[in-house]
This record gives sequence, C-alpha cells and structure tokens, in this order.
Amino acid sequence: MLKKMSNLPFNGTKEQEEKLLAVIAENKHDKSRLMAVMQEAQGIYGYLPLEVQKMIADGMEVSLEKVYGVATFYAQFSLAPQGQYHISVCLGTACYVKGAGLLYDKLQQLLGIGGDECTPDRKFSLTACRCIGACGLAPVLTVNEEVYGRLSENDVEGILAKCE
Ligand code: FES
Repeated sequence: MLKKMSNLPFNGTKEQEEKLLAVIAENKHDKSRLMAVMQEAQGIYGYLPLEVQKMIADGMEVSLEKVYGVATFYAQFSLAPQGQYHISVCLGTACYVKGAGLLYDKLQQLLGIGGDECTPDRKFSLTACRCIGACGLAPVLTVNEEVYGRLSENDVEGILAKCE
C-alpha cells in the first residue's frame, strides 16, 4: 500500500535529536547499518517524518532518496505518527465484500482525517490493512491490539466512544 507523509507538523524534542545523533555517530562508518539506524530512529520518534529522514541522510552520508526509498519500501517503517488509539480497518477481500470500505469512510468522516493520518490532538490515527486472518469475523477493524468483528457502519461511533 502507498505510504503517505505525516499530516501533522514535526514536533521532535532536543532530547530525541541528541539520541538520534548518538545512534548515527555510532553507525556512520558503515553504510550497511542504514536500516538499523532507521529502526532506532523509529523507536525514538515513533515514526520517520521527513525531518528525521534528512537527519539520517546527512549523518550517514547517503542521499535522502535512498532513505526515503527504504522507509517507503519496508512495511515496518511508518511515515506518519500513530495516535493514542491506532485504528486499522481490514480491507482484505473478505472484509471488503462485507462492507469494510463503508467502515473506513465513516471513520474518516467522524474523525475528520484521511487514511494514514492522525488527528491534531494525536488521539486517533487511521489506516487500512490487508487480511489479518480473522475473515470469519468480517468485516473487522482493530483498535491498538483489540479486534472488533462483524461490524456495520452503525457500530463505529460506539467504538470511538469507548476510546477514552
Ligand atoms: S480479509 Fe479481513 S480479516 Fe481476512
């Protein structure tokens, strides 16, 4: 699935920056450590905004295109921050034919954000995913680790209300 850059401004702290610069300093002699540095960076910031990708590219002396290419290619890297409640709607075939697209649309409408975006208060983020192996419960979505199944559009508001 195509990844979208964050819809929110970058708000990294000095402390996070210092941690990342230390990781880069430890690894910059070896360009094959790029992915390891990016994993550490994601651990520090929770995601890889463009500003962080630039710091990594400068520090590791590789092109920003290279860092961006790795960040978008591997599913483990996220370009957008996750909210306190990360909602993931399964758009796999079984869920899709049972109306998961409607759930996804309704969530976008209620939260006022698009897919792969985070609300300005960082409470909710929304994404779509492929089959999570719970097709018998289709259509399904997850909120953090919790799975909700056999849903209709009308259930969405209640699920959001439980996220307090
Ligand atoms: S298609 Fe949604 S869980 Fe399998």
